[in-house]
Amino acid sequence: MTAKILSFGIQKGGSSKTTTSGIVAYLLSQNHRVLAVDMDSQGNLTELLTKRDVVEFRGNTILEAMKEQNATDFVHTVSDNLHLIAAEDLLATFSRWLYSDFHATHALDRSLILANTLAPVRDNYDYIIIDTPPALGDQTMVALAASDYVIAMFEASKFCYSALSRFLETCWHVKERVSPNMAVAGILRGLIDARRSDNKYLIGMVQDTYGEMCFNTVLSRNAAAGRLAMTGLFDNSEINQAVAQYRLFVEELMGRVQD
Ligand SMILES: Nc1ncnc2c1ncn2[C@@H]1O[C@H](COP(=O)(O)OP(=O)(O)OP(=O)(O)O)[C@@H](O)[C@H]1O
Ligand SMILES: [Mg+2]
Repeated sequence: MTAKILSFGIQKGGSSKTTTSGIVAYLLSQNHRVLAVDMDSQGNLTELLTKRDVVEFRGNTILEAMKEQNATDFVHTVSDNLHLIAAEDLLATFSRWLYSDFHATHALDRSLILANTLAPVRDNYDYIIIDTPPALGDQTMVALAASDYVIAMFEASKFCYSALSRFLETCWHVKERVSPNMAVAGILRGLIDARRSDNKYLIGMVQDTYGEMCFNTVLSRNAAAGRLAMTGLFDNSEINQAVAQYRLFVEELMGRVQD
């Protein structure tokens, strides 16, 4: 079996992409072989999974893996079943390289560069989970093109509601142009504060607009989940509290990504 590749995305910043992709990778790794791929130069997923300063990974990240068109030598072990391809600030130079050096020397469609890079390690995993940056730039585009499934993140704000339709349009565009097998698994509503009436209103608005595309699971703000960036996913006494609601999401997600 070859890995299913899942990306979490939305161009609106601070929508819980990294926290959710990190927790999903962690939960899936309890029963499956998982590779997490950080496509954001902020390196937040790298930091969340390793608790290390991302600069320590310089020269040994997804950027170099893409330059070699082979991820094999760039995989870090987080735990037995959870591996990581890291990112740090220099991933911000990806577009410049993509349109200069890469363009000059390769015949491959630029948007398939990440798919091609992951191909040699794909059979080693059941799932590859990609975290994307808060922009519709090249890092997100190559992640979408490499994906079997995309999860669109929604946090309850009007700006994120506006971003959602354009994010989904971008997904359709990638599907039509380069990646016909890619599908949007659904819209995940998160960071919800149930006490706020505007949050409830926005959740309903997304439901009315997108119907069954929405996952039934709606994730709330939770202090233990918010602290994960500090406490980490391993040796954390409040881990069960932090990830409890995400277990329901993973169950629902698995139902949508089975063959
Ligand atoms: N379920 C949650 N409960 C409380 N806080 C959360 C939860 N999920 C994420 N957060 C917090 O919300 C903030 C944004 O989350 P995160 O960094 O995961 O979003 P992001 O979409 O990856 O951001 P960016 O667009 O910058 O990459 C972080 O401070 C994170 O700790
Ligand atoms: Mg992030």
